Amino acid sequence: MDERKTILSGIQPSGDLTLGSYMGAMKNWVELCNDYNCFYCIVDMHAITVRQNPAELRKRTLAQLAQYIASGLDPEKNTIFIQSHVSAHAELNWVLACYTMFGELSRMTQFKDKSAKNADNINAGLFTYPALMAADILLYQADLVPVGIDQKQHVELTRDIANRFNGVYGDVFTVPEPFIPKVGAKIMSLTTPENKMSKSDKDPGGCIYLMQKPEEIMRSFKRAVTDSETCVKYDPDNKKGISNLMTIYSLAAGKTYEEIENEFVGKGYGDFKVAVGEAVVEMLRPIREEAERLLKDKAYLEKVYRDGAARASYVANKTLRKVYKKVGFVQK
Ligand code: TYM
Repeated sequence: MDERKTILSGIQPSGDLTLGSYMGAMKNWVELCNDYNCFYCIVDMHAITVRQNPAELRKRTLAQLAQYIASGLDPEKNTIFIQSHVSAHAELNWVLACYTMFGELSRMTQFKDKSAKNADNINAGLFTYPALMAADILLYQADLVPVGIDQKQHVELTRDIANRFNGVYGDVFTVPEPFIPKVGAKIMSLTTPENKMSKSDKDPGGCIYLMQKPEEIMRSFKRAVTDSETCVKYDPDNKKGISNLMTIYSLAAGKTYEEIENEFVGKGYGDFKVAVGEAVVEMLRPIREEAERLLKDKAYLEKVYRDGAARASYVANKTLRKVYKKVGFVQK
């Protein structure tokens, strides 16, 4: 019997992986496998709440798998899988949707943002998406969900759904906690530091991608928006651009804000932006090179996602059977 606590998290393959997702989520996943039983999925079912090009989605899903592994997620020590390969997600989603309130879903910030951005396609899936995310988490009886701050509201709704269900049927689900990093929980756009760095960013310079070429990364950092002062100081209320760059530098180079402030006393923003760009390039270089190598080995990737799906299905189906029994479905 595995006594370790359980972790589950996922990322949508709706765009290429960004520095935001890496620093807010993935980077923190890597060390957890020694202490926790970890499940990481590529949530392709979530991605189709917004129209996707099928060939691109397939390609990005595999690329994301390669980048998970290249970032240090060892498939032997973590269960890595593709959401649509484990049918229990769709099945539990339906049950949980019947325990999720219209009013709760209407309050979700991400739904409001995405429906504003996709006004011609406000589909039911986009609206009920948090019930599917709750299914992702509750199927594995996850204790902790490592995510960036923007997903906190969805994890809180998952807790409410779990508590509501447990209130009716007894202790069926573990009630999960969000696990949000102290630094890097919300990486901002390089061009509009008031907004979150996002894979759907229309401004290509605002977002850094894990697989981007070093020259492009350097160009984006050199053009990053700063302010009219000249001092490198952490002040997220008044110096949004500089503070965001300091957070990125702190995570990429392993330095505290104080060390960074001292390093750049008397130096200009130009030097600082180059240092941040170089630190990010060096942090991403081994990930990009390893992901490129893995992407050529289709047989290996296939083995990883098949093994992962088998391991995940075993755990997920156990929870699903319990839920079906509780709600009164006749056993097959
Ligand atoms: P997604 O795909 O938008 O983002 C994936 C993860 O990256 C984090 N993140 C960021 N963190 C810091 N700064 C940023 N700029 C930034 N952008 C993204 C997100 O907080 C998230 O942790 N609904 C989820 C995916 C999901 C999921 C799950 C997550 C589906 N099922 C179950 C956890 C557990 C989403 O859209 O994340």
